[in-house]
Amino acid sequence: MVLDTTALNARRHCPDDEQAIWLFGYGSLIWKAGFPYLARRPAHIRGWTRRFWQGSHDHRGTPEAPGRVATLVAEADAVCHGMAYRIAPETLAPLDVREKNGYLREVTTLFFEDGATARGLTYIATEDNAAFLGGAAPAAMARQIAEAHGPSGPNRDYLLNLEAALAELGVREAHVSDLARRVRAHAPATDDAIPCKMSDMS
Ligand code: SIN
Repeated sequence: MVLDTTALNARRHCPDDEQAIWLFGYGSLIWKAGFPYLARRPAHIRGWTRRFWQGSHDHRGTPEAPGRVATLVAEADAVCHGMAYRIAPETLAPLDVREKNGYLREVTTLFFEDGATARGLTYIATEDNAAFLGGAAPAAMARQIAEAHGPSGPNRDYLLNLEAALAELGVREAHVSDLARRVRAHAPATDDAIPCKMSDMS
């Protein structure tokens, strides 16, 4: 099922009185910005772990054959590394559309490499949204990712680009790298996605 959380998000955590806000990205928002920003800095948030547990019916899959994309799952002591963007509040409107399949704006604390912290927003798809798939056996999740394809392209590119972007940040996560290894083994070698360098993107 394709959700539409756009209208819901337009009323959530609206930073109308601020000139610029921080947005934390942990999935495609790391490696495919596609929106204007004033600054971009590696950051992490705490208490959340990245999981390929959200269904993608609109970007990396279809309603009939959904893909799997990243969301955050609450976990005490977990750290999730990603990218922070300083954006104008009006940049949220197109992001609400991009993230409309179940993701809601949430307030979080961003931790930067220099020890500074800031309050910001991140999009999280929680287990109560209709597109949430939850966990499955790693082989089954990898097969689904290897085979799914949607309007934004193959699901495997999302995963492999994320793995490459995390590597550029010096981050290696077992959940992501294990899925990526399985997906590479699943697809013909000639069909490998060419992960872009983060410097080539945005
Ligand atoms: C994010 O990247 O922060 C949210 C999930 C996604 O768009 O992949």
